[in-house]
Amino acid sequence: MGSDMRSLHPLCPLCGIASYAVGCRLSPLSQVDFRPMPASSLETVVSLCKRRGFVFPSSSVYGGLGSTWDYGPLGVELKNNVKRAWWRSVVHERDDMEGLDAAILMNRLVWKYSGHEATFSDPMADCRACKARPRADHVFAAQKGRDPKGLAEINAAIAAKELTCPKCGSKDLTEARPFNLMFRTSVGPVDTGDESGLVYLRPETAQGIFVNFGNVLDTMRRKLPFGIAQVGKAFRNEITPGNFTFRTREFEQMEIEYFVRPGEDETAHEMWIAERKKWYLDLGMRADNLRVREQEKHELAHYAKRCVDLEYLFPMGWSELEGIANRTDFDLKAHSRSPENTDAVGELHYFDPEQKRHYVPYVIEPSAGADRATLAFLCDAYDDSLVKEPPAEDTAKLRELVESFARSVARREGMDVDVKQRLQAASESIAAGLPATLPRLIGLMDDADANKIEVMKKVRGVGEKIADEHTRTVLHLHPRLAPLTVAVFPLKRNESRLVELARSIKRDLQRAGLRAVYDDTGAIGKLYRRQDEIGTPWCITVDFQSLEDKTVTVRDRDNMQQEREPLGEIGPTLLARLR
Ligand code: GAP
Repeated sequence: MGSDMRSLHPLCPLCGIASYAVGCRLSPLSQVDFRPMPASSLETVVSLCKRRGFVFPSSSVYGGLGSTWDYGPLGVELKNNVKRAWWRSVVHERDDMEGLDAAILMNRLVWKYSGHEATFSDPMADCRACKARPRADHVFAAQKGRDPKGLAEINAAIAAKELTCPKCGSKDLTEARPFNLMFRTSVGPVDTGDESGLVYLRPETAQGIFVNFGNVLDTMRRKLPFGIAQVGKAFRNEITPGNFTFRTREFEQMEIEYFVRPGEDETAHEMWIAERKKWYLDLGMRADNLRVREQEKHELAHYAKRCVDLEYLFPMGWSELEGIANRTDFDLKAHSRSPENTDAVGELHYFDPEQKRHYVPYVIEPSAGADRATLAFLCDAYDDSLVKEPPAEDTAKLRELVESFARSVARREGMDVDVKQRLQAASESIAAGLPATLPRLIGLMDDADANKIEVMKKVRGVGEKIADEHTRTVLHLHPRLAPLTVAVFPLKRNESRLVELARSIKRDLQRAGLRAVYDDTGAIGKLYRRQDEIGTPWCITVDFQSLEDKTVTVRDRDNMQQEREPLGEIGPTLLARLR
């Protein structure tokens, strides 16, 4: 929370992502290896999301609102499945957890005593030369090799012209000012002009849990250790949102506060690190793309004794997926009546029946982002592959066009050096490797920078058709996460008996609790491809044999095998596979 959380997961002042404290993965300041995703680029995933109704830019009829996104029909199913899988794992499948759904708007005092009013801010400085607004603490850390001791030290360095703008190199920086990230609004029908009605949109769901600790403890008759889980919206006026849904101003968190006896906190911390890592792996995330990173001392929030980040290898580099912190007794104490807090009505402590004494429990906090987890599962599941070789003359024509694109990039003046290098290297290697590199060409054809170059139009004119016929895009989502579980097709849509049977199978599967759809808007091959692209694990085709012997073909998304199965067994079999 607070400014401390900002320093836990700092942004690179140049690219606005990743963990700048250990070196940005994109900017020239990089100090660590950047290993690109083997399967896809973020652009490719974004393009699929827009094309197939997962995620749309928000308020697009009015030109949009930067970095805000709406989840479409398939996206909402996917994100709901992620949240459902999380809830099932951390609440329903455990005996030591309770759920909660606290209000977004809370008494302003919550944010005063949590420390957010005073500290949930980033120090920003403006560059008078190029108008960039970098985070001044990150500029200081990068250029001085250590964290600043406070705003005063940053401003002394700026005044002494010791810091330079990370974008243009100018030393003409304004004084750094704290920029609070909480969105403000007011309650009541009258704007009184003072701050009497001021409330904040919560920047984390955690505080809703802390202030309900006593309510849950008393009503559910809990003994330590126990935890409270909550899923809900959080809002931060991020300075540098970006990378699609990775960092936005409105997002959803999935947070747990797990209360333990002081002294048992370290064991509980280890337990949650293992549990949370296992959750991602059990849902199919590739182990190579997930790592545990211990936060260094200087990254820790003031309340945290220890914090471990689960990081995912996003296309833009290793970035935080979830933080698992030992928050000690900081928050419950902060909201308890004391000489420092005379506003609280009581004390948030626990009576230990074994030790026969009151104390304030310690807290382990696994804090994940629902949007970020959804994006990670999408990136991880994305797969483009060549399924058959295109004719040699088509490949030759495409190669010529991609080479022409590479030459055009090389000749281009005034282009960002990094973008130019990236496009040139990608197009040269794609041209040399065709047709095997056709899936990578799909990524290049989706790249916003590549599309600023005229020749890309010609590449797309030829490339899209060839890619469409010879590659397969699949989302290998875990069946429990996939937006649709099963799609049912009649072999011929003008054969009423097939249509009728297919529709009734679909209805039966829906009644059995499966997310099933019917489709007859294309040839079977095309229908399979459409379902592969959105990650539907199984497709059922009803043919003439089905009318005779009540069997259908069930086709598996991942291995494309088709098996004949008796109608009556399909529902139970698929339900069992979802478990
Ligand atoms: N209560 C602790 C807390 O809020 P955090 O690291 O700031 O810690 C926890 O946030 C998780 O919430 C992150 O790991 C990330 O998944 C998600 N998150 C944070 N800020 C976000 C943003 N601006 N956009 C999307 N997700 C975000």
